[in-house]
Amino acid sequence: MENQTAITQEILRLKRDRKAVILAHNYQVPEVQDVADFTGDSLGLSQAAAETDVDLIVFCGVHFMAETASILCPDKTVLLPDLEAGCSLAATITADELRQWKAAHPAAVVVSYVNTTAEVKAESDYCCTSANAAKVVQAVPPDREILFLPDLYLGDYVARVTGRKNIRVWPGECHVHAGIRPSHFEEALRLHPDAEEIFIHPECGCTTNCMTFAQEAPGMQDRIHILSTSGMIRRSKASPALKFIVATETGILYPLQKGNPDKAFVPLKEDAVCEYMKRITLEKVLWSLKETVFQVKVPEDIATSARIAIHRMLELA
Ligand code: 13P
Ligand code: SF4
Repeated sequence: MENQTAITQEILRLKRDRKAVILAHNYQVPEVQDVADFTGDSLGLSQAAAETDVDLIVFCGVHFMAETASILCPDKTVLLPDLEAGCSLAATITADELRQWKAAHPAAVVVSYVNTTAEVKAESDYCCTSANAAKVVQAVPPDREILFLPDLYLGDYVARVTGRKNIRVWPGECHVHAGIRPSHFEEALRLHPDAEEIFIHPECGCTTNCMTFAQEAPGMQDRIHILSTSGMIRRSKASPALKFIVATETGILYPLQKGNPDKAFVPLKEDAVCEYMKRITLEKVLWSLKETVFQVKVPEDIATSARIAIHRMLELA
């Protein structure tokens, strides 16, 4: 603990000296979230990167997030403290696979979730995050077919809430969220009947069942909320409820509890842990600031195309 305090102080000192900003995703370990200037969901982090005026960004998240920051801030240095912090969902589609999919549907509009590589974004018309996927899909003219990628659960959710029929969804999934099954949802309801609200991230494998359940089971409509991670934080503060079941990566429990010390939050699945997000430690953040490692720089030709898709999303947000 003493060591942790010393590392934290050293990070804060270096951050000041080097005029850096630390951005951290809501799934990061608590001590990393605590040294960050900004914590948030994928949308909030993209917006924070776009708006910052400092030259050095230390991105505590996964690789595609640092790439997004590099695309939005081509003149800044973007650091990812561990290059092995990847994403199983982003790995489910390559730019070549997307080019082939587009060739089979040449008139379609491509909407890519932010959890994709920069090369995939460069092949896309729009980017979206879990916070604005439905809004982005609604912005596409109704007569245009949509290729939505790469998350099948988010894609099915968006098709349902928008009523869109001409949407094809890539069969990708995040291993952490896809592992949150309807049986876990049923078990959590049985164990915590007193939980007034249930938060579900739309990447979860139980999303479709939960939506059906919310529509059909008496009293469930107001209990189930399908939200991005920052959407969960906002709802937890606005809601009068005192106990919540939370279905997403368990890192979210820290900011939820910190923001609501008098409320209770239980994970829908206790071992829903993303090993990629957890690769970033306080020690690696310090090393990153000291040695200016590891730089994530998207080549300008790819960044120029990818930026258009991301800006289209940010303009709608
Ligand atoms: P959000 O924080 O945007 O909801 O995303 C969740 C996620 O899985 C990021 O990798
Ligand atoms: Fe990717 Fe899933 Fe980890 Fe998010 S939780 S970074 S989607 S592997």
